[in-house]
Amino acid sequence: MSEKELSQGEQKILAARTAIDTLINEKKIFSGMKIGLGTGSTAMPAVQRLAERIKDGTLKDIKAVATSFQTTIACEDLQIPVFSMNAKQICGGLDLAIDGADEVSPEKNLIKGGGAALLLEKIVAYNAKQFVIVADSSKTVPSIGTKFPLPVEIIPEARVSVIREIEKLGAACTLRQGVKKAGPVITDNGNLILDILWQTPPDPVEMEKALNRITGVVENGFFTQNKPIVFVAQPDATVKRL
Ligand code: 5RP
Repeated sequence: MSEKELSQGEQKILAARTAIDTLINEKKIFSGMKIGLGTGSTAMPAVQRLAERIKDGTLKDIKAVATSFQTTIACEDLQIPVFSMNAKQICGGLDLAIDGADEVSPEKNLIKGGGAALLLEKIVAYNAKQFVIVADSSKTVPSIGTKFPLPVEIIPEARVSVIREIEKLGAACTLRQGVKKAGPVITDNGNLILDILWQTPPDPVEMEKALNRITGVVENGFFTQNKPIVFVAQPDATVKRL
């Protein structure tokens, strides 16, 4: 008799908890570390598991950097000490960062920013010695940029000029709208989000740089540097490591 398949939500929890426990067992997460904590429904169970391993005494003196208000609040509620990247205790560098992703390509290029937290997520990810992604099986795709729209954080005053320049790069733009709030999404940094989509797959490495050269773009959700370890939970309750 075949076992029931895990739902997407169950896979998120499995990937997150497995990643934290595996990395502790492998001594890649240990006491005294500076850890960046991501945003979203897969990152949250990782934060929860980290808190449990602090509480059970496995981990001591962990210093966390949160990538959003969501994560800051979770850390406060779970009593994980949280610092700014600029705090003396962090000095702009992390030992490890763990986060979710919207899409993961075979080359381990990512789309992130579904939760509009891409700016701090990238600052944290690109300043960590080891980057870790936790994901359910729906996130692994053959190529990125044509299915899940790429989030781009922009300065509000540059909305029209940025859209014009992004369209020259062959992508269609949509201004992200708020839910239970009239008007656009305002990021944790007071900016807007454009969700952009190509018809044919772009080169994420080149496009990450090209988008950031547009005046008024703050950051985009292609993550092609600092290649992560990826934990992907499967419907059959196994976890693949990429
Ligand atoms: C937030 C992100 C998230 O990590 C990404 O959207 C994945 O979210 P979830 O784990 O909820 O599917 O980049 O800005």
